[in-house]
Amino acid sequence: KLQAVLFDLDGVVTDTAKYHFIAWRNMAKRIGITIDSDFNESLKGIERMQSLERILVHGGREQTYSQEEKERLAREKNDEYVSLLAGLTPEDTYPGIQELLHELRERRIPAVIASASKNAPLILEALRLNEYFHAIVDPGGIPGKPAPDIFLQAAKLAGADPAGCVGIEDSQAGIEAIKAAGMYAVGIGDAGILGPSGADLICSSTKELTLQRLLVSAGMES
Ligand code: BG6
Ligand code: MG
Repeated sequence: KLQAVLFDLDGVVTDTAKYHFIAWRNMAKRIGITIDSDFNESLKGIERMQSLERILVHGGREQTYSQEEKERLAREKNDEYVSLLAGLTPEDTYPGIQELLHELRERRIPAVIASASKNAPLILEALRLNEYFHAIVDPGGIPGKPAPDIFLQAAKLAGADPAGCVGIEDSQAGIEAIKAAGMYAVGIGDAGILGPSGADLICSSTKELTLQRLLVSAGMES
């Protein structure tokens, strides 16, 4: 039986994954590193300082910067990212998400945000979606995706067993995290990208995410 639905945020609830990419690409460019959208797939779902590390390794620059300089680079990226969020409104919620959240609330199935982002509360506020979520995982101090911890913490906050949870993700690291947590993994995006990470169901758009579809495909009809 379905006990909780755990949502990634960036790239699942709204299109903020594109703003992360823009802000990382600009930061990388300022230090002479080029990143393309293929490489960006390996950044999705990855915590901020870890993302910076991956970019530096990609550019062969992992030995160049002190901890202090890395913190400055990450801060500059985040400042640009937050400025890109300024225009976010409820209209930016991906199609089908509000309807799914509504259905979950009617059925009293908790929805929890399982995001690596420290900006999650800000984004939910801008989208006016707070009221639909039972909780938001605080990613600080727990291992990031692809480790299962963020999803396990989300299940705990919902009072649910991992085996009764469905996790929804747009990233390879996130799908791996859901599977490592022992949950049913729904991928939003390209089967060629998310299939190899172990997604149980892949939808090309959030429009396909109805509660009925989740219940049937996860075999959790009540
Ligand atoms: C994830 C994004 O949701 O959050 C990553 O997919 C991002 O791209 C990570 O790096 C951390 O986000 P933030 O907002 O705390 O820098
Ligand atoms: Mg994501």
